[in-house]
Amino acid sequence: MIDALLNLSAYCPGSVLDPVTREPITLERLEQALPPSLAALELSGEHWIPIPDDLREVFHGYRPTPLFEATAFAQALGTGCRIFIKDEGATPSSNHKANSAFWIAYHCARDGVREITTETTGNWGIALATAASRFGIQVICFIDEASVAARPDRVRLMEAAGARVEVVGPDTDDDSFDPLVLSANRAVSYTGKRPRSRYIFGSVYTYFIVPQTIVGLEARQQLGEVRPDVVVGSCGGGANLLGIAGAFLTEAIEYGTPTDVVCAESELCPIVSKGRMGEYSIDDQDFYPRLRTYGLDHLLGDDAYIGGLGSTIVAAPVARFHADGLIRTATFSDEEARSAAELFGRTQSRTVALETGYQLAAVVAEAERRPSGNILVNISSTGRGISYA
Ligand SMILES: Cc1ncc(COP(=O)(O)O)c(C=O)c1O
Repeated sequence: MIDALLNLSAYCPGSVLDPVTREPITLERLEQALPPSLAALELSGEHWIPIPDDLREVFHGYRPTPLFEATAFAQALGTGCRIFIKDEGATPSSNHKANSAFWIAYHCARDGVREITTETTGNWGIALATAASRFGIQVICFIDEASVAARPDRVRLMEAAGARVEVVGPDTDDDSFDPLVLSANRAVSYTGKRPRSRYIFGSVYTYFIVPQTIVGLEARQQLGEVRPDVVVGSCGGGANLLGIAGAFLTEAIEYGTPTDVVCAESELCPIVSKGRMGEYSIDDQDFYPRLRTYGLDHLLGDDAYIGGLGSTIVAAPVARFHADGLIRTATFSDEEARSAAELFGRTQSRTVALETGYQLAAVVAEAERRPSGNILVNISSTGRGISYA
């Protein structure tokens, strides 16, 4: 059982900024936006964060998640590579977001928060509502119209998990405006000064990424003597990628043990390959902390739905590790993601979400590129209720 998690933000000090002064933010200012425990974590320079006992018990209820070898998928690809799958579809919300959701709900409850507002394209809302119900916290999910149209079951699943759902329509002439930012903005204004309500973002921030690192830490233990040559994760805000790859990235930094870490992204949102280093915010109200990291001005086109990979801001450690050459990118079309997900579904009898399709497309590319080697990837969601048609 894992009893401490990695804080990858310790490698990028000073990246959390005051939204108004643009100077490194003080704890006092951060506590205006975040519950005290999460604010302290956001600024922590510790490399390891212990898991509180009560949360260990919660995690123990569904972790470790299974790790299996996808032999039929590898055979269909005709590759000499071994493909190992860490199954985050086996969480209570059927996606990797559950790990952060329980962590956040637990700390919010401890800090006296009674209501959490958030933006989501679906998966995060389901995970947060599931976790918050356990701690007696009301969740309000803001979701954009395109996500509701693409995944009509999501609203029902969030409501079934106990959330109130607000659908956010476009309020701009710019069709390529990031729907996640739109929903985040709406959620931030709603939260305002509601006394026991806090806005929580569904990726990017340290409070979200630390609990995801359990995925890679567990996978490393489960693999035993087998060492992955390549670790693949899809990247929206970066928590999924840092979750599966974090343990291997820190080994590379601390001990010089190289692992090829591949960030799979959508060609409509090439956040890591084309993102520019700058100071970015998830709202335009100078409320939430600004981050020094990679960002994009907007999505590149609106002709395909990319769900949770449509984030125009990425976690600071992703930007840092990419700039340092520890992470490389692989960019895929919607077609390539769907076809990889379909092949995986046919060969392994498992459905996965579209976002997972992007990381499977990167696995396909790797398997074609190298004659042999061990590839590690996670299922970030089962894509419950999603059709590829
Ligand atoms: C199924 C799935 N996979 C991957 C991602 C990307 O995760 P992150 O935003 O942490 O990079 C998301 C985000 O919503 C998702 O829902």
